[in-house]
Amino acid sequence: MNQRSVLTMNYLSVDEIMSILNDAMSFSSSHQDWQLSKPRLIANLFFEPSTRTHYSFVSAEHQLGCKVVDFIAESSSTQKGESLYDTVKTFETIGYEALIIRHTENSYFDQLENISVPILNAGDGCENHPSQCLLDLLTIYQEFNTFENIKLLIVGDIKHSRVAHSNVETMKRLGGEVRLSGPEFLVDDKDLYMPIDEAVEWADAVMMLRIQHERHEDTLMMSKEEYLANYGLTKERAARMKDHAIIMHPAPINRDVEIDSDLVECKQSRIFEQMKNGVYIRKAMLKRAFDEKF
Ligand code: CP
Repeated sequence: MNQRSVLTMNYLSVDEIMSILNDAMSFSSSHQDWQLSKPRLIANLFFEPSTRTHYSFVSAEHQLGCKVVDFIAESSSTQKGESLYDTVKTFETIGYEALIIRHTENSYFDQLENISVPILNAGDGCENHPSQCLLDLLTIYQEFNTFENIKLLIVGDIKHSRVAHSNVETMKRLGGEVRLSGPEFLVDDKDLYMPIDEAVEWADAVMMLRIQHERHEDTLMMSKEEYLANYGLTKERAARMKDHAIIMHPAPINRDVEIDSDLVECKQSRIFEQMKNGVYIRKAMLKRAFDEKF
């Protein structure tokens, strides 16, 4: 595996995380037009739907002067039974210099040990979403200028969320505190559980998650209205957040399910800033992948 790959947040030391955040902040200000020293050939292999991650990687790649190809799983030889390894090995063999991969399978990258080009994980099953975690960290850092003692509340379908799993581990490593809320059977780390009404008053950042129905074996037997009232961010709960606290969501959002639609673009919301930060972070990850300097 290439040392410049980022498959989980554990691939990055705290210093490397801060270096990526600093580069991302430079991309948002002093280095907006900076490009890689040569036009790298990059393939985006998304085996699962995506809007933000896929197209912000594409935006980042174009801004850095890369040549970009989007793999289409439905019209590829995976339909003839070709394995993930053979597909990825083919991309490496025919000249692609970095691969962005999202796949439904947990830790799909364990099969890719023999691949030499950098791989940036764009999400695997329920486990890891490092580029999302980094853009979430950037959003928190821009707000508070530190992670020390910052209280992050993550609410919703924690069990099936690669966003939650990446953020819990990393925020703790950076000195923050994390609590989890939502339907108790969907909170897999019971030690971190806090009831929503208490938790919204505790948090500096409230990150709402959607229910990931595509990863559920059972249907959640609850109406949208019931879910919002019991577990969601209502206007009443938002009014009890600290004055400085922010609202986050990785999106896609199910408006009026996990969050009242009126809160999505309210003053405390940083949801669209997160998306904007996604491009800066992915530029910084690509810069690191090719070991380039400003
Ligand atoms: N946040 C996120 O991963 O969104 P997409 O699934 O649209 O990429």
